[in-house]
Amino acid sequence: MPCEVTVAGLDGDPRSAPEGFPGAAGVVHDLGNLIQIAASAVNVVSRSPRAAQDPGLEPILARARTALERAGALVHQTRRRTVEPSFEVRAAPDLQSIPACLDEIRALLAWICEPGVTLAIELGPDLPLVRCNRLELQNAVLNFVINARDATPDGGSIGIVARRVAEGAFAGVMELSVVDDGAGMSRETLAQAFNPYFTTKADGRGTGLGLAIVRRFAHEAGGRVDIVSAPGEGTTVTLRLPPAGLPGAEA
Ligand SMILES: Nc1ncnc2c1ncn2[C@@H]1O[C@H](COP(=O)(O)OP(=O)(O)OP(=O)(O)O)[C@@H](O)[C@H]1O
Ligand SMILES: [Mg+2]
Repeated sequence: MPCEVTVAGLDGDPRSAPEGFPGAAGVVHDLGNLIQIAASAVNVVSRSPRAAQDPGLEPILARARTALERAGALVHQTRRRTVEPSFEVRAAPDLQSIPACLDEIRALLAWICEPGVTLAIELGPDLPLVRCNRLELQNAVLNFVINARDATPDGGSIGIVARRVAEGAFAGVMELSVVDDGAGMSRETLAQAFNPYFTTKADGRGTGLGLAIVRRFAHEAGGRVDIVSAPGEGTTVTLRLPPAGLPGAEA
């Protein structure tokens, strides 16, 4: 049922915008509105008689709902960070269990992968808890897997491997790698992969921000991200986070 629209206090004067209001916050605000519109459209479809007749529709709508809920949570978090400087989500990040985090996004991960791309998740024993923002950790994995999917347009395999490093410089650290057997990267691409806005993807396919965002998240959580790749030999992207309670894994 469409609701009544009331316009109040609209003076059309651009000078009435709050001083110093950051442009990005406005974009985030408007994204929130668009997400709400898309979510209510999904709800309308799922309540329609046609959805009841076609049981195949519900899992598809459930995926859309999950993605929109995650987008909404991310917008909410970002809005509070940009509009309310006093709100600092990172001040007290929660303890995260890697298996539980991956479990929550398992359906989305499967959906990202095109037919012809196999996705396997391998969890090692004694995985340490890590202290970080849950949404950001999950978005890091989603970013890695989307990149791996884009690198395997003709099919291939993607693996997510999480383990506790047993020995060496990173002993005790939680290591999560996304491994693909796709196109790989040239030396020049690899050198720029973390640069904000660097992309080799066609217009509209990539903004070049994914890895830059993940790297910032990893650093803020006391960890790091590394990439090993060569043309034709696939790519391994590794996120390392310190076990909760121990100092950073940053070398
Ligand atoms: N698994 C991968 N295999 C091959 N190349 C990759 C892989 N991951 C990243 N790259 C390269 O690194 C570049 C930067 O990646 P990044 O995720 O930062 O941006 P993007 O994927 O291009 O755009 P966005 O993530 O913002 O949608 C990519 O354009 C691609 O050239
Ligand atoms: Mg990307």
